[in-house]
Amino acid sequence: MPKDSLTITDNRTGKQYELQIENGAIRASELRQIKVKPEEFGLMSYDPAFMNTASCKSKVTFIDGDKGILRYRGYPIEQLAEESNFMEVAYLVVHGELPKKEELENWKYQIMHHTYVHENIKKFVDGFHYDAHPMGMFTSTMAALSTFYPDAKEIFDPQSRQLQTYRLIGKVSTIAAYAYRHAMGFPYTYPDNDLSYAGNFLGMLFKMSEPKYKPNPTIEKALDVLFILHADHEQNCSANAMRSVGSSYVDPFSALAAASAALYGPLHGGANEAVLRMLKEIGSKDKIPAFIKEVKEGKSDKRLMGFGHRVYKNYDPRAKIIKKLADDVFEVTGKNPLLDIALELERIALQDDYFVSRKLYPNVDFYSGLIYQAIGFPVDMFPVLFAIGRTAGWIAQWQEMLLDKEQKIARPRQLYLGYDQRDYVPIVRR
Ligand code: SDX
Repeated sequence: MPKDSLTITDNRTGKQYELQIENGAIRASELRQIKVKPEEFGLMSYDPAFMNTASCKSKVTFIDGDKGILRYRGYPIEQLAEESNFMEVAYLVVHGELPKKEELENWKYQIMHHTYVHENIKKFVDGFHYDAHPMGMFTSTMAALSTFYPDAKEIFDPQSRQLQTYRLIGKVSTIAAYAYRHAMGFPYTYPDNDLSYAGNFLGMLFKMSEPKYKPNPTIEKALDVLFILHADHEQNCSANAMRSVGSSYVDPFSALAAASAALYGPLHGGANEAVLRMLKEIGSKDKIPAFIKEVKEGKSDKRLMGFGHRVYKNYDPRAKIIKKLADDVFEVTGKNPLLDIALELERIALQDDYFVSRKLYPNVDFYSGLIYQAIGFPVDMFPVLFAIGRTAGWIAQWQEMLLDKEQKIARPRQLYLGYDQRDYVPIVRR
């Protein structure tokens, strides 16, 4: 019976080592025993950007990149997007099971009664320049929010973690709305706890002088589905930031600010914004071939934003769902003229060997921005919308890290290739 192990021969010494294989991996620390001289540190594995390194064991999200599969706690994203709602999915992602009726009612009540923020938060947001990027406002205000909840430091108290979870999910939409209202020069709007999570968010964004904001049901549903699609995505860059920063035992607000900063990058959550700018730059369908040519030539590091993925080497299942959702939204808002360019860009790219050979398919960011723009969001709000949905996943990943007995403070090794010791040279002799 073949054993679940690896036998390694160190050709420098002829010695053999047997390493256990568990869950499809070997423990990198097992490599430390492989030495030439006993006083050596032992072998390490070198894996820039963790291309082939599992940093944790997780039960939150499963992705099969080749098959284009995405499941939260075992449930396929297609079913959740079709049949569930964001409050229920956020509960599932954080707690691991679909809630019973009373669990869901309590969860919704708690979150919708933690949407208010301290009035002083307005002073932070007021301090930003009129053209400050909303993601910069969101990220820094989330960090500032940590100073209002010193009890959030009680990270090993389950009750405290539960309360911070309500606060984080409840307040990220308020902070996001404040960033938008400040950017537009509008007065801040207070939450309306009678509305759904997505409906309340729309109200805080778009309510003007009407006494009670009534969200358009199609738009409310579309936003709810978009929050579901963005809820978690296993060990992406921002989840890694949440875990790594959280591993120092900092409070979850500060860790979430770090995760949000990671998401801000154009290679990650900032891609949805970059896609719209790219589509606008292309301007018309007849300009697509020239643009594609520039991308393939790697001109000025041009990338087809919204295409490609570290894990998906097939169509991102979320992109498929969003593409369908776009039709519902455009029924209400009118078609986004950039959609035709996006569809033609996808058609051409998926026939071009450069993209096909590199398995570059549309990802979650390729179509989401078209919907956001059609709903009325400015392009620089898009990563903030991504962060609202992803807050549930960041919390789930953070909590799983904290409760994992194998986890410690994240502190990778390095391969030092710098100078050996050398003596200081006074400036007069340099
Ligand atoms: C998200 O990780 C997650 O799960 C993220 C996310 C989540 O839900 O959290 O799914 C959300 O961030 C989606 C990805 C959004 N980013 C973009 O759309 C930006 C454009 N895409 C890329 O820059 C890129 O595809 C990444 C960053 C997404 C993935 O990059 P990898 O895995 O590091 O791949 P790579 O950069 O090594 O590229 C491999 C090859 C290279 O060509 P060669 O050197 O082999 O010649 O593919 C090329 C790259 O130049 N390539 C692209 C490309 N993406 C990769 N060429 C043109 N356009 C692209 N978009």
